[in-house]
Amino acid sequence: MAASRIPPGYERLKKATDELKFNMASDVETGSLLRTLAASKPSGRFLEIGTGTGLATLWIASGLDKNSSLISIDNNELLMKVATNFINDGKIEFILGDAYEWIRNYQGKKFDFIFADAMPGKYDLFEETIDLLNDGGFYIIDDMLPQPNWPLGHDEKVNQLISKLDERNDLVITKLNLSTGIILAVKK
Ligand SMILES: C[S@@+](CC[C@H](N)C(=O)[O-])C[C@H]1O[C@@H](n2cnc3c(N)ncnc32)[C@H](O)[C@@H]1O
Repeated sequence: MAASRIPPGYERLKKATDELKFNMASDVETGSLLRTLAASKPSGRFLEIGTGTGLATLWIASGLDKNSSLISIDNNELLMKVATNFINDGKIEFILGDAYEWIRNYQGKKFDFIFADAMPGKYDLFEETIDLLNDGGFYIIDDMLPQPNWPLGHDEKVNQLISKLDERNDLVITKLNLSTGIILAVKK
């Protein structure tokens, strides 16, 4: 089934992303799921770790209501420039910076939705990132099924992360064989 209602501006941003040969961007299936989940959190606080060129940011943003806010962080200046050039939405705060540092130092309110799409927040600082979630909040990760761009030994990291998720009693988890393999967790 084709995804319904692609967010405005998506095709232009996708073209710019392809021109950069950025191959870590989320696809339409993941984006569509993120948007639907985002719409379930009115007045929500959203966090994306790893903006890339902003393709998933665009999907998440298109599910937000007017009282919601999204922080999206990436340490790559070029990619961040693409995202900020193409996405103009007052509900989004883009942060150019190191997510390891940001996660360690963050003192603000917790989040209702975290899309953890970089090493920090997922394979590193996992516990610290889960601590940033409100009860009932979503923690979402993709690329959990074997991918052609995985470096050697990455499958071991993936298995360890899945074990960590499975072991936590405060997370309710569903593993989806959708797109690149998505794990959706809700904090109890
Ligand atoms: C999988 S891509 C993100 C894709 C994007 N979320 C999307 O769905 O299109 C991972 C991103 O994490 C960023 N990244 C890697 N290490 C980082 C760090 N230490 N701090 C912040 N961002 C980082 C990379 O620059 C890259 O853009």
